[in-house]
Amino acid sequence: MQRALTLHQTTIGKKVIMALSGAILVGFTFGHFLGNLNLYRGSEALNGYAETLRALPALLWTARVVLLVAVGAHIAAAYSLWTRNRKARGSRYEHHKDLATDYAARTMYWSGPILLLYIIYHLLHLTILPAHPGDVYRNVVEGFQNPLISGVYIVGNLALGFHIFHGIYSAFQTLGINHPRFNAYRRDLAIAICAVITIGNLSFPIAVLAGLVTL
Ligand code: HEM
Repeated sequence: MQRALTLHQTTIGKKVIMALSGAILVGFTFGHFLGNLNLYRGSEALNGYAETLRALPALLWTARVVLLVAVGAHIAAAYSLWTRNRKARGSRYEHHKDLATDYAARTMYWSGPILLLYIIYHLLHLTILPAHPGDVYRNVVEGFQNPLISGVYIVGNLALGFHIFHGIYSAFQTLGINHPRFNAYRRDLAIAICAVITIGNLSFPIAVLAGLVTL
């Protein structure tokens, strides 16, 4: 007997969940990057920006809850698609391989876990256990002066770059933004969004290591 499947039970439903939660996460990452540009304006600017956010607890906690739900949905759908995909691989119905899709999917399955570990480390380093509570500028600059810590951020943000490049590209496909006229730009748009965030984020530890940003 046929039964109705809810959105999250179908493969396309899971992909839509991935695309929408991913869009929220990319939006946050872009906004977070713009806020972090205050690092280049100095201690007062970055600490002032952080204080402004903390003075708006309702906004801060709403954003945190939305982010947590988005991360949870993103990982749960990814895990479920991954296990489904592994089962399908053994199937005799698999006649051809889509190399482009395989490459993108493989990229997501190594960059995703690295990104998750990076985010956990990042939260412990700057939000949960900061060396100087309240002095965000000092925490960031002192942290990045340590090449090991900068190394973790560089690896994490490179993983982020690969992840959001393929993520944005496949989200366009999932959400059906697939018009022949737009397709030529789809890759370029994914590259542009990804380049701004990745190069921008990599610039922070590199600028500190190069002595361009100091305490
Ligand atoms: C080099 C790049 C980055 C820098 C310099 C940076 C800097 C910071 C700083 C200073 C804070 C603490 C702010 C405060 O306590 O007021 C923070 C929090 C946070 N960052 Fe980043 N960040 C970077 C990249 C990322 C990336 C790539 C992600 C995720 C994809 C991310 C996710 C978060 C989250 C979720 C928080 C906690 C926000 C909260 O709930 O208070 N960050 N970051």
